Amino acid sequence: MSVPEETDTDWWTMLADPDFLADPHDRLDVLRAENPIHFDPASGCYFILGHAEFSEAMRNKAIGRDSRNWKGGWHSDPGFRERDPVAFRLFSLFQPQMINVDGIDHARMRGVYEPAFRAQAVAQLEGMVREETERLIAALPSDGRPVNLIDAYAQPMPLNVLCRLFDIPRDMADTVSDWSKKLIQIGDLMLTDQQKSDGLEALTAFKSYLREQLSVSSTGTEGSLMRLALQGLDNGTLDEEETLTNLVALLIAGHETTVTLIGIGLKLLLEHPKEMERLRAQPDLARNAADETLRYDPGGNFLLRVAAQSCEIGGVKIPQGAPVIGLLRATNRDPARFKDPHRFDITRTGNAHHTFGGGAHFCLGAPLARMEGRLAFQCLLSAFADIELQEPPRWLNMGTNARSLESLIVTLKR
Ligand code: HEM
Repeated sequence: MSVPEETDTDWWTMLADPDFLADPHDRLDVLRAENPIHFDPASGCYFILGHAEFSEAMRNKAIGRDSRNWKGGWHSDPGFRERDPVAFRLFSLFQPQMINVDGIDHARMRGVYEPAFRAQAVAQLEGMVREETERLIAALPSDGRPVNLIDAYAQPMPLNVLCRLFDIPRDMADTVSDWSKKLIQIGDLMLTDQQKSDGLEALTAFKSYLREQLSVSSTGTEGSLMRLALQGLDNGTLDEEETLTNLVALLIAGHETTVTLIGIGLKLLLEHPKEMERLRAQPDLARNAADETLRYDPGGNFLLRVAAQSCEIGGVKIPQGAPVIGLLRATNRDPARFKDPHRFDITRTGNAHHTFGGGAHFCLGAPLARMEGRLAFQCLLSAFADIELQEPPRWLNMGTNARSLESLIVTLKR
């Protein structure tokens, strides 16, 4: 079966429209009810809005994450390099990492870092993550002065955790954060020239910093990601470019995403006082609250896949080389999968949202991110009996994909 061609939806204009991005749900509900999979003839993209259909796509081995397979994309279009040399260089330098390759190359790269994210290894990090969280809480004002929880809490907490995991000195944290902010925007499909050159500059600086770090830290701390990277390099599993690019990717993947989870999660709890009360009464619900935050208001709008071979998803034929885009804010609120999908409910069970992706590329850091989210909520609520929002939260304008909060101004009382 093939899907009818759309003539009345200008997909990319819609996906970049600030009004749509601010509240896309009515429109997405209508589009999903019309069809869980839409084809856009203007861009050749297949947009998936149904939960079952996108789960199927992420599990299908004919569909992967390697964007070099995109027919007419940056790698397969012979004229691209000449037309847009900065983007070509940026994408080429960013290519050799686990998230951009499939099959045995993916398994080889993921295998190097996987031991650090096993349940037992992550459980051993709890003391360190709690220590970093409590350190920030101790510095928060409790005398009624307003404070921005994004700057003072959500932003530094995952960054400090990553610096500990990567043996990165604390005085480099702000620089790493700046590189990471510029690079996360590469996940946007409509990059401005400024974003491309900022990304290229950040990537080059980040790689040369890590190259230096690897050469001076001959072993890395036991169990640290630097140690695993060095082992992968020394035993020939990864070459130098792969080692550096995967390290950069881990730092980006683990930072802004978690800042967003903590920031949006606190915002949602403040906007839903009953859920906040429930969490205060039952702190064990904090892990659920993190997953419900990720489902209800994900930090990314879409996930890209590319059909390496032609295949069929939800009965729809997808040709080889076609981009397949899962719209998370639609699939995470599909009524066929989630009861009462537009309700923020921290007691929700079986919350199979797509915000960590799925299939072979399912987020490697999910156990760590869930722990950070849980501890960020639990520690803040247990330290402060009263948390009050002082002004409407402000969103950062980060493009069509990544979403993040700029401010969450509150007062805190013990
Ligand atoms: C709330 C926080 C996080 C979110 C929402 C998130 C989301 C994602 C998503 C959507 C993917 C792609 C999955 C796919 O396409 O199927 C991914 C992959 C990945 N994430 Fe996360 N992530 C988070 C935190 C972390 C952390 C803390 C780390 C590690 C420090 C991490 C490391 C990775 C890695 C290495 C991959 C690539 C996995 C692969 O390709 O096999 N992530 N993440």
